[in-house]
Amino acid sequence: MPSTTLIYDDWYPALRSERLRGTKLATAMLLGIPLVLGRRGDGQIFALRDSCPHRGIPLSCGWFDGRQVTCKYHGWAFEPVSGQCREIPSLTPSDTLDPLKIFAGAFPCEERDGHAWVFVPRSGRGRVRGSDALPAVPEAPKFGVRYRSAHLTADLPCNVDHGIIGLMDPAHGPFVHQAWWWRSKQSIHEKEKHFEPIPEGFRMSAHAPSGNSAPYKLLGVYGEPIMTTIDFILPNRRYETIRCGAKWFSSLTTVTPTTANHCRIDVVAAWNIFFHVPLVTSIAKFFGNRFVRQDQVTMIQQAEGLKHNPSLMLIDDADRPAKWYFALKQARLEATDGQRATLHPMPGPVTLRWRS
Ligand code: FES
Ligand SMILES: [Fe+2]
Repeated sequence: MPSTTLIYDDWYPALRSERLRGTKLATAMLLGIPLVLGRRGDGQIFALRDSCPHRGIPLSCGWFDGRQVTCKYHGWAFEPVSGQCREIPSLTPSDTLDPLKIFAGAFPCEERDGHAWVFVPRSGRGRVRGSDALPAVPEAPKFGVRYRSAHLTADLPCNVDHGIIGLMDPAHGPFVHQAWWWRSKQSIHEKEKHFEPIPEGFRMSAHAPSGNSAPYKLLGVYGEPIMTTIDFILPNRRYETIRCGAKWFSSLTTVTPTTANHCRIDVVAAWNIFFHVPLVTSIAKFFGNRFVRQDQVTMIQQAEGLKHNPSLMLIDDADRPAKWYFALKQARLEATDGQRATLHPMPGPVTLRWRS
C-alpha cells in the first residue's frame, strides 16, 4: 500500500481513555510514532514517546506507580505529563549530571468523548506543553446535557487519504451499504447538494436529508423538520449534525494515520433522540458496527488492488469533495501557520450533483 504525507501539529485520537486505569500502561501508534499512555494518580492522562531517552528501550516495558514511569533497563524515572526525568539511580553525589534537564518525549494529551487525544507536533518543533496555545481538542457537538453516546472503531489497511476519501464518497453507499433497512441499488436517484468553504474544510450545507434512508425516516416520528449539516475539517474530521426540533444526533468521525500506510476509523456519536426507548444504544451500535464493517471489508479488498500501484482517477461531481480534500491538504502542508485560513480551493458556495 503506498504511503502518504502526514499532517503534524494537530490532535489525533490515540485510544479509548477507559483503557487508562490504575497503574496500567497502554501503547498506541500515531503517525508512525510509538506511544505509551497512562493515567496519573490525579486523573490526568499522559502520552510519552514509547522510547527511553537513555538507550531507547520502550518505556512501556517498565513500571508505573501512578506518579512516575520507571524504565526497566537502568531505572531512570520520569514524571509522565512533562516527561521530566526525576531520578537516575546510578548517579553518585560526585556526579554533576542534572536528571531534571533530561526529558522523555511527552505529548499534550486530553480526554474528549472517551478518546485520549494526542497533539502530534512536527519534528523539530521542540517540546510542546499542554499549557501552550494549541488548537481546541476536537469533540462531537452536543446540544444539551442529557444524551447518550456510543463509539465504533475499525482498522483500515490503507493510507489515511484513501480512508478519508472513502469517508466522504457519496457514490459507494448504494453498493457497499446495500441493505433492506438502509437503501437499495434500485433507489439510486439524482441528488443535488450545496457546499460552502469553511476554515480548513467544507460544509455540506444544512439540508433535509435524503428521504430514502431508514435512519432519517425514523426521525419523521417527531413530525418536525429535519436538518442535517456535514462538515469536513482537516486533518481528518467529519462532523455530522442532525437536528429535529429539540431532538438531535451528532457524530464525529476521524480517520487517523497510525503509520504512513495504515489508518483507523473512529466514530463517536451522541444523541438525545429516543432517549427513553430501551436498547437504542445497543441497536445503534449493532447497525453502526455493521455499516463501518462494510467500509472496512471494502477497504481491505481495495488494499489488495492498490498493492500493484494502479493509476487511479477522481471524477466530477461525485469525487469533487475528495479533490477539495487533496487541495486543502496540499495548502495546509505548504502554508505557514499565519496563512492557514486564507488558502482555500473553493472560490465560494458550490452545488454538486450526483446519483446515489
Ligand atoms: S534505557 Fe532507560 S534507563 Fe537506560
Ligand atoms: Fe461507507
